[in-house]
Amino acid sequence: MCGIVGYVGTDEAVPIMLDGLRKLEYRGYDSAGVAVCGGGGLTVAKAAGYVQALCDIVEDGRRLPGHVGIGHTRWATHGRPTDENAHPHISDGGKIAVVHNGIIENYAKLREYLVSKGFAFNSETDTEVAVNLIQHYYNKHGDAVRAVAQAARRMEGSYALGILCEDRPDVIIATRKESPLVLGFGDGCNHIASDVAALVTHTREVARLEDDEIAVVSAAGVTVYNCDLEEIVKTPEHVDWDVSAAEKGGYEHFMIKEILEQPDALRKTVSPRISGGRVTLGDADIPDEYVKNISKIYIVGCGTASYVGAAAKYNFEKYAKIPAETVMASEFRYSEPIIDGTTLVICISQSGETTDTIAAMREAHRLGARVLSIVNVVGSVLARESDWVLYTWAGPEICVASTKAYSTQLAVTYLLTLHFAQKRGAMSGAQCAEVVTELQRLPEKMQLVIDDKHAIQYLASIYFNNEDIFFIGRNIDYALSLEGSLKLKEISYIHSEAYAAGELKHGPLALVVDGTLVVAVATYEKLIDKTMSNASEAHSRGARILAVTTQSCAARVAEASENVITVPDTHDMLLPSLGVLPLQMFAYYVALLRGCPIDKPRNLAKAVTVE
Ligand code: AGP
Repeated sequence: MCGIVGYVGTDEAVPIMLDGLRKLEYRGYDSAGVAVCGGGGLTVAKAAGYVQALCDIVEDGRRLPGHVGIGHTRWATHGRPTDENAHPHISDGGKIAVVHNGIIENYAKLREYLVSKGFAFNSETDTEVAVNLIQHYYNKHGDAVRAVAQAARRMEGSYALGILCEDRPDVIIATRKESPLVLGFGDGCNHIASDVAALVTHTREVARLEDDEIAVVSAAGVTVYNCDLEEIVKTPEHVDWDVSAAEKGGYEHFMIKEILEQPDALRKTVSPRISGGRVTLGDADIPDEYVKNISKIYIVGCGTASYVGAAAKYNFEKYAKIPAETVMASEFRYSEPIIDGTTLVICISQSGETTDTIAAMREAHRLGARVLSIVNVVGSVLARESDWVLYTWAGPEICVASTKAYSTQLAVTYLLTLHFAQKRGAMSGAQCAEVVTELQRLPEKMQLVIDDKHAIQYLASIYFNNEDIFFIGRNIDYALSLEGSLKLKEISYIHSEAYAAGELKHGPLALVVDGTLVVAVATYEKLIDKTMSNASEAHSRGARILAVTTQSCAARVAEASENVITVPDTHDMLLPSLGVLPLQMFAYYVALLRGCPIDKPRNLAKAVTVE
């Protein structure tokens, strides 16, 4: 996915857009560009690489004056990350400039059509099809807004478009379908952006554009039309985000900042939802009758969010006695799941904009399920289209590798487990109260683990040269292994896999050679001995064992382990919240020692708004 910005006002547009693009780099950073519309017509500057490369070629805006502009930072989908494929794209005819986030799925057919109409193409991108299609209709009648509406009707897939027309040098035109686009209302100026994060330093009055709406943004105001070009009213909402939360705050990377923020983030997630020792989910008013009749829970998400689901599955079944299944969103949407009106689909997503998860939610609705989403970004598509939403209130998570979103999503699943268990009589009030008390103690126990981060840094210095690292665990520890392995591979680029410990001997053990590191995640007391015997099978074939366990079980893992990481004891339901911390820090320090970029890993993006 990509980041889009636009500015119309009395100030120089490019410096403001560059600031916004820096805030959106987490959405993609393989190339960047800006276009301005002024006396000299449309002028574009763009380059492969980070936004900084663009800043250098436009000398922070000094070389590109103008008060109306659009900008883009890219995560390549169609066409390699090159200067030619960077956005903005100018139409063949030179009247239109476009920046785009999303995928135009019928771009090949449209490109063929446009070539037959005499259009020439200079890039491999689907975006160039969009800009030429708009030019095609503009050539017919000279009305830019109407041309955008006509082109939008022919494009299939997802798009958020920022558009300049040379003959209308005082406005930006914007439209979207499935990809996010936000309007910012300033004082004598107005903005567009993919995400509020790019706007809050300029304005806190924002409104989300809905699918198929078209905005005409000028310095004096914003006019919004529906797809039939009938004017509609948009009511701005006030954003009270703490801007500093989106800044690094003195830390070397967003990742370590967000790891250290987790105890506080957890307090913000849990405290408002506990009253008198009981869970109160007032912000998701799920009818008791519905809760009592839930026959099955599907937990759906991508990457880290799906691994929260992998842990939650065990808890829903063990404590709420509800059949639960975790399915990756990209698989769920095409798997024809067995669903009826008593099926609850829980969609988990930090961004709330992940295309696969949104599609899974819509498929669940189509099949008759009710959908509850666990989301961090307020007002995101998932939050707006679900039947119920529980926000994690983790604050902006900027690092591509998710940490505090994982922990706060996990905490919300605990609250749901307890709420369902109590409503369905699967746990007594006293049993629930015991877990609630432990849940309220979690932040201080998390802090103890985090305070010991230098011990993890030392272990990273021992193992950071490994090229293959396996994570193994059983039951809820297997779910934790999945997340530990993903954290490590996505920021250190070490090949890492997670296996159910009992599975090692059924094939993966063949991969173990002298020196292979096996991280044995053994916090779930009931299965520790089983996991450690699997670790010993690997050790006897040359593997080095790093165990993660609880303080009370440290002696039981010591014999089979080269090193042991311990976390405080807690209720079984809550174990992943403590066990994940050393795994996050291990990944961070290993990546640091390997000189990796950490916050922006190669090939990845923070929110993946393409299939
Ligand atoms: C996690 O570290 C990754 N960045 C990635 O797996 C992420 O969790 C996944 O893309 C889902 O994103 P979402 O939570 O915004 O839906």
